[in-house]
Amino acid sequence: MGLLEPDVRYGRVVRVAVSQTLDDLKVAGQRVLLRADLNVPVRDGKVTDLTRLERLVPTIRELSDKGARVIVLSHFDRPKGKIVPELSLRPIAQALGVVLGRPVGFAEDCIGPEAARIVDAMQGGDVAVLENTRFHPGEEENDPAFAKALAQLADIYVNDAFSVSHRAHASTEGVAKLLPSYAGRLMQAELTALEQALGNPARPVAAIVAGSKVSTKLELLTNLVGKVDILVIGGAMANTFLAAQGHDVGKSLQEKDLHATALQILKTAKEKGCDIILPQDVVVAKTFAANVPTEVVGVDAIPADSMALDVGPATVAAFIKRLPEIKTIIWNGPLGAFETKPFDAATNELAEAIAKATDEGKIVSVGGGGDTVSALKLAGVHHRMSYLSSAGGAFLEWMEGKILPGVEVLSAGLSNMG
Ligand code: 3PG
Repeated sequence: MGLLEPDVRYGRVVRVAVSQTLDDLKVAGQRVLLRADLNVPVRDGKVTDLTRLERLVPTIRELSDKGARVIVLSHFDRPKGKIVPELSLRPIAQALGVVLGRPVGFAEDCIGPEAARIVDAMQGGDVAVLENTRFHPGEEENDPAFAKALAQLADIYVNDAFSVSHRAHASTEGVAKLLPSYAGRLMQAELTALEQALGNPARPVAAIVAGSKVSTKLELLTNLVGKVDILVIGGAMANTFLAAQGHDVGKSLQEKDLHATALQILKTAKEKGCDIILPQDVVVAKTFAANVPTEVVGVDAIPADSMALDVGPATVAAFIKRLPEIKTIIWNGPLGAFETKPFDAATNELAEAIAKATDEGKIVSVGGGGDTVSALKLAGVHHRMSYLSSAGGAFLEWMEGKILPGVEVLSAGLSNMG
């Protein structure tokens, strides 16, 4: 079974989402309100990473080819309910047109007469983007009147924005209660892959969790120790665990107030049969800058004037040695300070080993979270993972075991609308 094929063996959410896909949707001449995530990185008015736009293409093309009027709805950044001209979606709509290879119209408001004027002028197959939903306070407040104003523009709602479905906003949640609602192809792919990685994975399943702070990933760690067989902890957050165990971590970043929490996580993991892998060696430097002198030391020998900035080679080798026993890997967070060389080495080496095992069909590998995607891209392996999520916060919340309101409402939509 390929990752992108609908699979009803897995959890409720996936079953619901894939039951309401574009497969059986007759959309010719219909107005389809497509919630996309056009929240992309922009510098000097130019989109610097097209990934999110590229991943929307299958859904937009399919709807457009079937004759729908495709009305694309999205937020951009956080204008906090006010019109902020620099946060207009106009340049992103243009970039979407280039990626799509088709003309894309633009409406200067996402509700009211301006939006209606653009939508009324659309023919079957046309695509238009509406202005930033977060220019209206009703979006984040999930105001029913704002949701109704959005719903009035369309006959059908399609959510293809898994990456913002952790927000109970009008365009992700409220409007789905007012229109027949479906999951787009990207939403479907995200849910299927995440369910395959964590909901009902082929075992043993390993998770790699790294990043700078234990505090931001506490819920994630707590949920994962009960779900995965092996948990690799890397990044600066590993320092907190090492220090809690009594290692002197020198000048390394750590959260001293979380030592007890870290020990509790280790205890729970033991009780639940989750094997935790912490660094046995680290790459240290006296200062944090590119290409500074570094040293590889055991975790018992971190000099008092140095800081750990990457996981060491013995740790990576020990985990790679265990890869043959693993069937599924889920990865969130780079192992070291990957944006500054040479502290990308552990991440790159592990990424290559996982990509190779994936190429050979030995494991299913799923990664997600902003930094993880950047790190895997820098490692040059992003196309070789089984699936790379386009989501940051939503990916984390899913891994934390939370229900995502924008996904949940698609399930309610199914029962309400039959
Ligand atoms: C993201 O980029 O993670 C999503 O677009 C959500 O954005 P938000 O954190 O501003 O809600």
